[in-house]
Amino acid sequence: MSRSAIDLRSCIRDIPDYPRPGIVFRDITPLLLDAAALSEAVRRLAAYGAPRAVDFVVAAEARGFILGAAVARELGAGFVPARKPGKLPHETISAEYILEYGVDALEVHADAIGHGANVLIHDDLLATGGTARALCDLVERLGGHVVGCAFLAELAFLGGRERIAPFDVCSLVTYD
Ligand code: PRP
Ligand code: ADE
Repeated sequence: MSRSAIDLRSCIRDIPDYPRPGIVFRDITPLLLDAAALSEAVRRLAAYGAPRAVDFVVAAEARGFILGAAVARELGAGFVPARKPGKLPHETISAEYILEYGVDALEVHADAIGHGANVLIHDDLLATGGTARALCDLVERLGGHVVGCAFLAELAFLGGRERIAPFDVCSLVTYD
């Protein structure tokens, strides 16, 4: 199968009523199992970042780490893990956010991003945009420039794109 023929949407599985009734969980694990789809997703996310002179990819625990580090490698950029509270060993800064199904916080090391660095935000999925907004805020507080936000999937009906405006957004699969 040629690269352009890979339908990434068909590699994402719908799980109704997970983790709560009324939520349709978009499960990316079938895509991760498929070597060609995995490669295509990383290639396309990196293609979005390539013209943006990315110094670092910042991604959210846990699912953001899976493709985020691969995208950073493809771009020749560094990788910054944004972790759930208490998981990073050095001095951190923290941002709280509201999820589609809960409240949480993310932290990055205070020395992770140099002043003026170009940063690509990555996560597997954009829902309400709370997580991505928190990542953008953390980057800006450290003096970095958010040059774009790249997602595998986007739940467009939840308005995440608007939440992280004016930053540019790319998503490979959109659910309306
Ligand atoms: C999921 C997903 C995104 C976030 C998107 O992570 O991986 O990080 O929700 O939602 P939002 O746009 O409404 O913020 P989750 O917090 O479920 O954690 P996980 O990656 O550890 O599964
Ligand atoms: N993160 C937030 N909402 C989600 C959903 N519906 N499916 C998968 N991950 C999510």
